[in-house]
Amino acid sequence: MSTPQLLRQAVRALSSQAPRYSFRAIQPTVAAARNFSCSPYRFGKVPPRDDIDAATTAGEPGESGDHEGQYARTDKSVRVEYPEEEDLPASQPVQGRGGFHFKRTLASFSLEGRVGVVTGGARGLGLVMSQALVESGADVAIVDLNKEEAQRSAQGLVETFKKENPGADKLPKVTAHFADVSSPTSVNQAVAEILKEHGKIDNLVTSAGFTENYDAISYPHDRMQKLWGVNVDGTYLFAVAVAKHLIERQSTGSIVFIGSMSGAIVNVPQPQAPYNAAKAAVRHLAASLAVEWAHAGIRVNCISPGYMLTALTKKILDDNPDLQKQWTSLIPQGKMGRPEDLMGAVTFLASDASGYVTGADLRVDGGYTVT
Ligand SMILES: NC(=O)c1ccc[n+]([C@@H]2O[C@H](COP(=O)([O-])OP(=O)(O)OC[C@H]3O[C@@H](n4cnc5c(N)ncnc54)[C@H](O)[C@@H]3O)[C@@H](O)[C@H]2O)c1
Repeated sequence: MSTPQLLRQAVRALSSQAPRYSFRAIQPTVAAARNFSCSPYRFGKVPPRDDIDAATTAGEPGESGDHEGQYARTDKSVRVEYPEEEDLPASQPVQGRGGFHFKRTLASFSLEGRVGVVTGGARGLGLVMSQALVESGADVAIVDLNKEEAQRSAQGLVETFKKENPGADKLPKVTAHFADVSSPTSVNQAVAEILKEHGKIDNLVTSAGFTENYDAISYPHDRMQKLWGVNVDGTYLFAVAVAKHLIERQSTGSIVFIGSMSGAIVNVPQPQAPYNAAKAAVRHLAASLAVEWAHAGIRVNCISPGYMLTALTKKILDDNPDLQKQWTSLIPQGKMGRPEDLMGAVTFLASDASGYVTGADLRVDGGYTVT
């Protein structure tokens, strides 16, 4: 080892023994003026105290202004219960997104000949993602707690397809099925019904889920169990039922979980700890099942949307107008997403275009989670 290398090692060894900084460490010569620093003082000089110091851990809480932590804390006065079914408007298929076109694109994005199942497909993000699968060539089974709405949505998808593809020689088959995804019996019944009608399942998208904003101390335990039951158990139960079918059929397939950016960050200012934890579970479930089923050619990925403007988020924003400004101020793209913004992501992950992608989390959040 050369002399300079030895010297560097000696310096590193010495500096690693002495703590570089400690929280509110008292340094006899400077303690009165400044009780915390992570940078060494040079030649015993005490740097003058200024506003910027007040914004560091040298300052007392609140010393640099009322804005401290304003955009990085939850506010327990924000409370939003998931509304009753009749209080949520139905969604309509989006227009002008499908239809034959003459733009060249990769054939590997096509889902022709596939059967996709979308849980929570009666409305919101699930309905738009069902439409993406249909427009990409798949037949689709919509599964929802609300079977009547699922039926209307299934018909709406076929009608929209007809309108946008007047020359189509074959119409997509879109069916509606009841399931409470948090119940194993209900899930198995729905899967059996889908297999009877479609003969097989190739793709699964798990969009059944809901959020509530409650501070953790006040959140009723039974509501928390229900939230985890639908978001976590529901995702797991449907994935297992579909993977079992694929393995028995000795067929490959692709499963897409709908998580949320809330599984990676903590939203502010609305408190929603159980939802955030549930979505973190969904994300890691995708990674874990991807590894477990890779041998069978079953891919499992997660899409984590950011703030999307759906009936539910619209209701939350109508009730809390200040939230919209706070939310968009934290999004690098400066805008909330539209449900349509998930169409490409779900088609990519469901199709052969993503053949070597498994266990991934695809964030569709306008850049929220990278800042
Ligand atoms: N909207 C957003 O901004 C946003 C952001 C990130 C993630 N997400 C996630 O996307 C998914 C869809 O959200 P959305 O905004 O479209 O909600 P939504 O309320 O519009 O749609 C959810 C659908 O799931 C169904 N559902 C609820 N519980 C069910 C159950 N137990 N069994 C079967 N179906 C059930 C509902 O009937 C409804 O049709 C959820 O998992 C949500 O957490 C939404």
